[in-house]
Amino acid sequence: MNEITRVIAADLKDDEADYPSPRMINPQLHTGSTVLFESCQDLLAAGRGGYSGITYGTERLPVQRKFENALADMEGGALCRAFQSGISAITNTLLAFTRSGDHILVCENVYGPTSAFCREVLSRYGVTTTFVPAAVGQDIDQWLTAETRLIFLESPGSNTFEIQDIQAVVEIAREKGIVTIIDNTWATPLFLKPLELGVDVSIHSVTKYISGHSDVLLGAVTVNGRYADVLDRFYRVMELFASPQDCYLALRGLKTLGVRMRQHQESGLAVGVWLEQNELVEKVIHPALESHPQHELWKKDFTGAAGLFSFVFKENYSEEQVCDFVNALKLFGIGFSWGGYKSLVTVGRYRRESGEACEGKVLVRLNVGLEEVDDLIGDLQQAFLVLV
Ligand SMILES: Cc1ncc(COP(=O)(O)O)c(C=O)c1O
Repeated sequence: MNEITRVIAADLKDDEADYPSPRMINPQLHTGSTVLFESCQDLLAAGRGGYSGITYGTERLPVQRKFENALADMEGGALCRAFQSGISAITNTLLAFTRSGDHILVCENVYGPTSAFCREVLSRYGVTTTFVPAAVGQDIDQWLTAETRLIFLESPGSNTFEIQDIQAVVEIAREKGIVTIIDNTWATPLFLKPLELGVDVSIHSVTKYISGHSDVLLGAVTVNGRYADVLDRFYRVMELFASPQDCYLALRGLKTLGVRMRQHQESGLAVGVWLEQNELVEKVIHPALESHPQHELWKKDFTGAAGLFSFVFKENYSEEQVCDFVNALKLFGIGFSWGGYKSLVTVGRYRRESGEACEGKVLVRLNVGLEEVDDLIGDLQQAFLVLV
């Protein structure tokens, strides 16, 4: 037998008897496309839908299923599905729950690409979007029409941190049979349980806190029993699936999420309180601080805070001055995304249909990571010196 043939055939013969599988503490990572059948009968049964096993790599390989089940359990949901990124989870959910002629309401503080998808893609399929104020609650009813099919929330928004009155929105939506969806990335499944508050669909960019190490791009959608079939069917028909390696890392991340989030919360608040006392800072925008306009509402629904928040300078510094400040930081990396162990900084201005957030001033957003908090405060302190 040719040596290549031998290598390939030996691979096929490997089984538990040759290498008894040790009971490793972590799950086995299966990857790839082809799954071998025991017999031709099994293959034919699979073609007719009468085979119970996994038949192909797109059918959610075992570690993906384990991750989905673990997250569904944490969220208190009936079904979870993993997607290749957070934005893929969002856009596919919007597609799964709308059809031509529908009208949807989306909070204007959502992640930029979420609103871009509504404006540029859903509009082409006859779905119209109304963007509603970032701190919407009971007043949502003024934007409802007979065609309103879903409401999309993000609380707090991941740049400007407004809080929505989730329970008030849900009550109105339920009465009218409108689906409610929330991007729950900031709070993680530990600090907000949207499904318990009556929201139908909870979405995560797993890329952020759940995976926690900035080495994964992954999203997840969890639904209550009412909409489990909608998500399950859409996912199967679209043949969506997620990378097994990324699901493996995300499942690992879930196991340490509790300790990491406690530290992000503690360090984030310590940095926020320190910034509030800095004479160059006009305000810190952090929902867990009493100074936040919707702090009481935040306390009603959330049981903890992430380490991501913004602040605004008193002075209207030029772009060059703001860049000097950011460039002077040594421990905060300059980069997008958040939720990882490394502290990060971004800056931006936020213009909305209802006006400019923070009077058009530059917002500095900090992702407070897992470094020693005194070192982070020391780093900010020395960077502020470039502004005085
Ligand atoms: C609130 C929020 N949702 C969703 C996403 C998209 O996640 P991903 O980067 O995994 O596509 C982001 C990314 O920054 C985000 O901030």
